Amino acid sequence: MLVPGKILLDHAFKNGYAVGAFNANNMEQVQAITDAAAETQSPVFIQVSRGALTYSRMTYLRNIILAAAEEHPEIPIAMHLDHGSDLELVKKSIDLGFTSVMIDGSLDPTGKRALTFEENLEVTKSVVDYARPFGVSVEAELGTIGGVEDEAGVSEIHYTDPDQALDFVKQAAPDSLAIAIGTSHGAVKFEGECILKHDLLEELHKKLPNTPLVMHGSSSVPQELVVVVNKYGGNMPGAKGVDIEQLQQTLGHGVSKINVDTDGRIAVTGAIRKVLMENPEEFDPRKYMGPARDALMEVVKARMIQFKTAGNAPKIEQITLEQAKELYS
Ligand code: G3H
Ligand code: 13P
Ligand code: ZN
Repeated sequence: MLVPGKILLDHAFKNGYAVGAFNANNMEQVQAITDAAAETQSPVFIQVSRGALTYSRMTYLRNIILAAAEEHPEIPIAMHLDHGSDLELVKKSIDLGFTSVMIDGSLDPTGKRALTFEENLEVTKSVVDYARPFGVSVEAELGTIGGVEDEAGVSEIHYTDPDQALDFVKQAAPDSLAIAIGTSHGAVKFEGECILKHDLLEELHKKLPNTPLVMHGSSSVPQELVVVVNKYGGNMPGAKGVDIEQLQQTLGHGVSKINVDTDGRIAVTGAIRKVLMENPEEFDPRKYMGPARDALMEVVKARMIQFKTAGNAPKIEQITLEQAKELYS
């Protein structure tokens, strides 16, 4: 069942776990994510980036996610815009029926320039003003999560400043805040050791005791999956992700949503490479997309257990955006 993102965030926040937010670009990914949620009885964010929306020509992914929600009425699913670049895209997503949106005010829409605090505040406020009457929850970002993504921009990490965060949340009042404490997007996150700034998280949580916090760039890049990619003709030098134990230490400290995309990409790529290398005569897409779907489901299930989401699907009645509007406005 499709639910407003805020329902999931608030339940996770109160109960000291995090909801996994997994990126999808096609049917198999949406199926893998929802099947994993169903098997582990987990709430879930299925998130769609600007690039994914463009790739899927706007309406396809939305309809695939609606199909997943129809197939799994027992699973609370938030359909989320990941790294929304501007108000126009947010409006479009809300028109499409998204129940949660992110406005990434850390970078300008081209991803090339960091927005100033004031610019970020301004665009975030405009998104909150627009989305709230629809009952759609808004995730903002302060600080810059590093890393390279096709559409999410290229950037250095700028850690979130706790005083700025307090000021920002007071003024813009987003439903959740993405913070930068050392994670970064993509498959090569650290040259040396993974170090997350737990002290900074503590400070942020202390300043914002009622704000669900979001961790981007949180793939753990399992080496056993990288090995499969490389064994079957891939080349992923230096692939290294977030240490899963350090990630788990953030639970119960305000972190209520954790974003994972890269782990799924690696699982899918490895599975496809394996089938095609071992069966060069194969040309039926189902023969490699099926194993790719299975491999992704395993990764998502593992994260749902690690983030303590499993078994935590809130027992909620069907709640529409119409009702959420009453609740949250
Ligand atoms: O953080 C962004 C996600 O990994 C989506 O990446 O913009 O290449 O679809 P994308
Ligand atoms: P990863 O690249 O670590 O999977 O991060 C995904 C993400 O933050 C999506 O918004
Ligand atoms: Zn991200």
